[in-house]
Amino acid sequence: MKKTVKDIDIQGKKVLMRADFNVPLNDEMVITDDTRIQAALPTIRYILDQGAALILMSHLGRPKNEPDPKFSLAPVAAALSKELGRDVIFNDDGEVVGQVTRDAAAALKPGDVLLLQNTRFRPEEKKNGADFAKDLAGLADVFVDDAFGSCHRAHASTAGVADYLPAVSGFLIQKELDFIGGALEDPKRPFVAILGGAKVSDKIGVINNLLEKVDTLIIGGGMAYTFLKSQGYEIGESLLEADKVALAAELLEKAKAKGVDLKLPVDVVVAPEFAPDAPAETVAIDAIPADKQGLDIGEKTREIFADAIQSAKTVIWNGPMGVFEFPAFAKGTEAVAKAMADSDAITIIGGGDSAAAVKQLGYGDKMSHISTGGGASLEFMEGKVLPGIAVLEDK
Ligand code: 3PG
Repeated sequence: MKKTVKDIDIQGKKVLMRADFNVPLNDEMVITDDTRIQAALPTIRYILDQGAALILMSHLGRPKNEPDPKFSLAPVAAALSKELGRDVIFNDDGEVVGQVTRDAAAALKPGDVLLLQNTRFRPEEKKNGADFAKDLAGLADVFVDDAFGSCHRAHASTAGVADYLPAVSGFLIQKELDFIGGALEDPKRPFVAILGGAKVSDKIGVINNLLEKVDTLIIGGGMAYTFLKSQGYEIGESLLEADKVALAAELLEKAKAKGVDLKLPVDVVVAPEFAPDAPAETVAIDAIPADKQGLDIGEKTREIFADAIQSAKTVIWNGPMGVFEFPAFAKGTEAVAKAMADSDAITIIGGGDSAAAVKQLGYGDKMSHISTGGGASLEFMEGKVLPGIAVLEDK
């Protein structure tokens, strides 16, 4: 168990909090999805209510290790000011911790909030450079990490800074660990995992780890075709990772050896091309035409997957079942989302595209937990130690 901000006394102190404010912005620098800002608010509000001064930091996007106005955190400062009903101090400091920022941090009073400029404007950030970590730590008395989405990065602001300050987690990290960690360590059974998305290669680690833990593993999405191919099916023009066919066969064998019920599609929706208006038809997996590609799971498969979800006590899902951006090929993803929304099980959405799909479909508040991590939740589900969590103090 990691210490949280509730386990330490922060009254009258300066708290340096790492959040993941890596939010999508449009061309006008308007935030198009503020989920990650909302997710940080409980910890922010708690810290301010305790009579501490708060220094917030985050990266945004992938600037080239130098200041770039396209990746400024100014829009986040404005959004936070609105949410908190108080002015969030923000300086466009290209050094992130330049003199202007040191002065601003020194002048903070309890209840004040300062947001630093994008940590990736400093070249040392991604190298976890000690000088930058020390600069950051020098601004505050304690470090609170609540950037679950960045915990898989061993950067100065996510890991290095903990070498110089007492380090505890915020409530978002605690929630992510409780739900995802809880499911992986001690799930209510049956435990069903659903994996989708385009590539087997992105999910090898997750599949391997989940095969040690789950009762049922459901595989859909583009990556299902490499598994089907490994079973001898002809998959036409569907997505194939030819160099992963042997591995797919091994994973199927491993599932059998572990007694895991591994479910693959039994029918799929195919089309002659990858296009939103391509004519769609449902075929059994032993009847995929040579000149067509599978873009979604078929009706029978949706029923089988939904039944498995309905009988589960814990369900974790990562990756769409088809090309859900095209309405004609979104039904499989919708069916999984609906089955999870209707279920009484602990339902966890492992971030990325499936989180977007669930929210888009209006099922967001029907899930027990939607992870704010993309890469971070995948690595966590792989069973990896996340550097941003490893540095936090144990209880
Ligand atoms: C994310 O969006 O997954 C996190 O904010 C991490 O961003 P990164 O992949 O650029 O490190």
